[in-house]
Amino acid sequence: MSQWWKDKIIYQIWPKSFNDSNGDGIGDIQGIVERLDYLKELGVDIIWLSPVYASPFVDQGYDISDYQSIHPAFGTIQDMDYLLREMERRDMYLIMDLVVNHCSDEHIWFKKACQNPLSVYGKYFYIVPKKDGIPSNVRGYFGGSVWDELPGNPDYLYYHSFHKRQPDLNWENPFLRKEIYYMIDWWLKRGVAGFRIDAIMNIKKDLPFHNYEADREDGMASIVNVVQASEGIGEFLAEMKKETFEKYDAFTVGEVFHEKESELGDFIGTDGYFSTMFDFGPELIGKADVCYEYTEVTPKDYKKTIFASQKRMESIGLLANIIENHDEMRGVSRYIPEGDLCDTSKKALAAVYFFLKGIPVIYQGQEIGMENCPFQDLSEIEDVSTINDYEVALEAGLSEEEAFRCAARYSRDNARTPMQWSDDINAGFTSGSPWFGINPDYKQINAREQLADEHSVLQFYQKMIQLRKDPDYEDIFVEGKFEPLYEDVDNVIAYYRIGEGRRVLLLSNYQRKERELVLPVKPECILLNNMDHITLDGNRIRLEGYQTVILLETN
Ligand code: GLC
Ligand code: CA
Repeated sequence: MSQWWKDKIIYQIWPKSFNDSNGDGIGDIQGIVERLDYLKELGVDIIWLSPVYASPFVDQGYDISDYQSIHPAFGTIQDMDYLLREMERRDMYLIMDLVVNHCSDEHIWFKKACQNPLSVYGKYFYIVPKKDGIPSNVRGYFGGSVWDELPGNPDYLYYHSFHKRQPDLNWENPFLRKEIYYMIDWWLKRGVAGFRIDAIMNIKKDLPFHNYEADREDGMASIVNVVQASEGIGEFLAEMKKETFEKYDAFTVGEVFHEKESELGDFIGTDGYFSTMFDFGPELIGKADVCYEYTEVTPKDYKKTIFASQKRMESIGLLANIIENHDEMRGVSRYIPEGDLCDTSKKALAAVYFFLKGIPVIYQGQEIGMENCPFQDLSEIEDVSTINDYEVALEAGLSEEEAFRCAARYSRDNARTPMQWSDDINAGFTSGSPWFGINPDYKQINAREQLADEHSVLQFYQKMIQLRKDPDYEDIFVEGKFEPLYEDVDNVIAYYRIGEGRRVLLLSNYQRKERELVLPVKPECILLNNMDHITLDGNRIRLEGYQTVILLETN
């Protein structure tokens, strides 16, 4: 397969909160079309669209009841075709979210399975007779047992890794796999360029089902045990690629967790199952099984983690680099110490992750520096997983206030507040009443103002994208090797990208204090600077707080 995507910039749209075209308070496909010029101007090539399929929205569309139809709140299949045409006209590509570990309990397959667990459709899921007992003591991602009584048929149990309304599909069944491949093919034929592949490590179970050592007082064990113990997922992934992606030279990015070190090359090597996969290294810093045990990220941890990923992947493949997505809090609120948050530090973080080796992915609103939302009360939260975090914290004995504080701090809903287009009412997201609260900082942080301000975070993103896509520097930014510098110097994040007979140095003074450094070589010129000025004297450089530059060196 070709690597047509390797010099491209990806932008994730979480449609419900992107742009509402018809005033019902919910973002939609026509709303995306309205903003294509904005994205094109930013420099985006590939849009990853989170689910817009038919869904009861128990998990915000990651619970699909019909893979080949569009949720009416988002539009119609004609709207999708229109979006695809409008993107093609602008030389842009669309990738959809492929959620095939599970479907919705409202999917016709599951409904038929419930009616008759012994039917063909019963075998599309993991369904067992209840009289044999609960097959495993596994706790799902959103809390509680992965086993529940089959709706309408309480003599049986079925398996769900996530919410109980998201039954897992049985990938061991070749007929189910065929259905999935048919559906993937149907979308690729329609013109989508590929997929972001959801929760893919969960499709392989550790069979036969059995108990693991309990890790909490509930007597259950984390579902991570299942992922880590499963063997043989590669057979499914190789088959899926051969039956679908390969035929279209599609671009795929996997949501991969807990992969085995020895299998990395199989996943994203030259002939890998996927084109790339996300680097979740930074997203995992300080996380524990329960949110009240999470710890904050320090610049030191952040640097160590991104550098480790770069080294790990060096001769293997390209990772997709992120600072946030729809499942995480806002990157600027996570990777910049509280109190240091300002436009300069936001640009510093942006440059640090953006020029790493790999494919840069931007999540909606990141380009204008959107921050976490100051939620005040549980009633403001929609996300099932945050509500579970809160309940788990309460059960562990935290006060309501403490439980809320930690659940809200790390809530996925921080990233799900509507996009801030302007300082007009509802941040210009909708003319109606928004489905979800707008972050009150929209008067200060919005796209319209930043488009008019050359010092804005948004215009800095535009500059970064231009530089990264400049064909003159392709040998450096797309192909170039990564090599760290000043690795042991605290609060300095620095690395080379090495091109043909030249290299660039990204240098970030990741702290509030200024800092002087003696560079190994006198730089030839400055390709990017997140401030207006620079103090450079020969190979002596003085960087102000969070000042970040890219220097070109030739030899
Ligand atoms: C992935 C999605 C997340 C969803 C889960 C279940 O992790 O990114 O939003 O809740 O899968 O589909
Ligand atoms: Ca709408």
